[in-house]
Amino acid sequence: MDIKEVKKNAKERMKEFCILCPECNGRWCAGKVPGMGGAVSGGSFQRAFDKLKEVKIAMRTLHSVVDPKLECNFFGENLSFPAMIAPITGTKFNMGGYVTDEEYSNDVVLGAVDAGTIAMIGDTGDPNCFQVGIEAIKKADGKGIAIIKPRENSEIIKRIKIAEEAGAIAVGVDVDGAGLVTMKLFGQPVGPKSLDDLKTIISSTKLPFIVKGILTVDEAKLCVEAGAYAIVVSNHGGRCLNETFAPAEVLKDIAAAVGNDIVILADGAIREGIDILKYLALGADAVLIGRPIIWGSIGGRQEGVKITLDTLKSQLYQGMILSGADDVNNSKTFSRILCTK
Ligand SMILES: Cc1cc2nc3c(=O)[nH]c(=O)nc-3n(C[C@H](O)[C@H](O)[C@H](O)COP(=O)(O)O)c2cc1C
Repeated sequence: MDIKEVKKNAKERMKEFCILCPECNGRWCAGKVPGMGGAVSGGSFQRAFDKLKEVKIAMRTLHSVVDPKLECNFFGENLSFPAMIAPITGTKFNMGGYVTDEEYSNDVVLGAVDAGTIAMIGDTGDPNCFQVGIEAIKKADGKGIAIIKPRENSEIIKRIKIAEEAGAIAVGVDVDGAGLVTMKLFGQPVGPKSLDDLKTIISSTKLPFIVKGILTVDEAKLCVEAGAYAIVVSNHGGRCLNETFAPAEVLKDIAAAVGNDIVILADGAIREGIDILKYLALGADAVLIGRPIIWGSIGGRQEGVKITLDTLKSQLYQGMILSGADDVNNSKTFSRILCTK
């Protein structure tokens, strides 16, 4: 199997849920939430794509970088490259149901390990989704991360304990899920968190804690103050709030403000290896991959997930050679990469 076959299979199997457009930019699927799209007009998804597209790379080939280093370490784990799998749930109502949530969780958690990296599992109104994610993490000897919805503090802490017992390497909350009406429909309220809430939640665990869904410098600073290990600069694939900024346009300022104090992850519209390079150049330490992993699982199951990650990795490797970036751990390496017109 190769990446073309994985995508071809995914296109056939996802039917009207996703037609794998030549450019996955949030336009065809606008408003398809539930589904694969962005909320309402799809503006936040589209902006995440468009702003990342505007970032351009300075090609340089007169240098000595012949074998750039992609290996890195996050959450105490050695990774083959600085990309992890984003938490994603709802296989039936978002993706058409070709795989169950249990199958998806296994595909991504084990497929990530096969590719030398780590997957995050998500949380939703259906308690089964979180549970099958936890079971997948157990199968992978704890090599996975649990991202919990911004429920009541006691409910979050309960799930953190479940993740700890499964041996997970880190936990977190997708704070941008604070307005999800679907959770209310399931009788499981979510909402915004105060600084004190965050401190209470973070101090309940010894595991590294991730705050997912940060788009402003002031909130990034609050995460540092609360003692978080990492933030994810993300607009949730454009699915929570329409008309937000794009991760790619706020990342530089956030990295300048807190880059020395906290690990910065970023996601949104990464479709090829060069997109990872762009986020690294803007100040991220590592990235999360979203929708392409769905195609990987549906188009080729666990192997398809590995193929998707391996493809991104080799494209990143090539991009680093052709821009003269020698090491993903060396932030100075990226300072010359972005084109300033
Ligand atoms: C179908 C779907 C379901 C998602 N479910 C979750 C979730 O349960 N928890 C979460 O934190 N993020 C969730 N996300 C957001 C992703 O984790 C990630 O932030 C986003 O997909 C990144 O953008 P990209 O898909 O363009 O790469 C979901 C995204 C999609 C497309």
